[in-house]
Amino acid sequence: MTSGKVKIAVLVSGGGTNLQALIDAQKNGIIEHGEICLVISNNPDAYALKRAENNGIKTAVINKKECADQNEFENKISSLIDSEGIDIIVLAGFMCILSEKFTGRYPKRIINVHPSLIPSFCGEGFYGLRVHRAALEKGVKVTGATVHFVNEIPDGGEIIMQKAVEIQDGDTPEILQKRVMEQAEWIILPASVEKVSKNILSERE
Ligand code: GAR
Repeated sequence: MTSGKVKIAVLVSGGGTNLQALIDAQKNGIIEHGEICLVISNNPDAYALKRAENNGIKTAVINKKECADQNEFENKISSLIDSEGIDIIVLAGFMCILSEKFTGRYPKRIINVHPSLIPSFCGEGFYGLRVHRAALEKGVKVTGATVHFVNEIPDGGEIIMQKAVEIQDGDTPEILQKRVMEQAEWIILPASVEKVSKNILSERE
């Protein structure tokens, strides 16, 4: 923590709009107590990597397919996180489940954004558009997003922030995903990262 700020690593798999929201929040001062120092993708083609490069943020690709097993995949992530002196890990559209061994190494230091109001439409198998498809199939009238700490239970860790979003007539999974991102995820993810960063710094004072 040489800069006096909490060092943040963001783990991504795809488009990286949540990463972009974090970068923008850092630029406009919403994230004041943290600094995005590293972006790790499991997918070499993730556009999120480009977003990081465009903003001068160090990137790394750790391709699960090139690892012998989950253990090797996670060891590579941990080695990098630890050697870079990272304080918090943000899962921003990271589509891999992390084992208890990994999550247990970083208690209350891993944050995830999930595109529903947990405990609805969450857990294994609920990711990306599948979450919104399930919400529309169920016919719920309100959905939203949740930011939570990550523990050994998929989407089961302590909730940090939630924001509700209304479902409208004629919504498709794609339309709903966009509204949930715009009205909830891109707001509560940066706000949660700032809240956790500030807390970590105050604990160290
Ligand atoms: C986001 O909607 C995020 O909440 C979701 O994937 C999308 C990634 O978009 N994550 C999950 O479903 C995790 N269970 P992005 O790459 O543009 O940020």
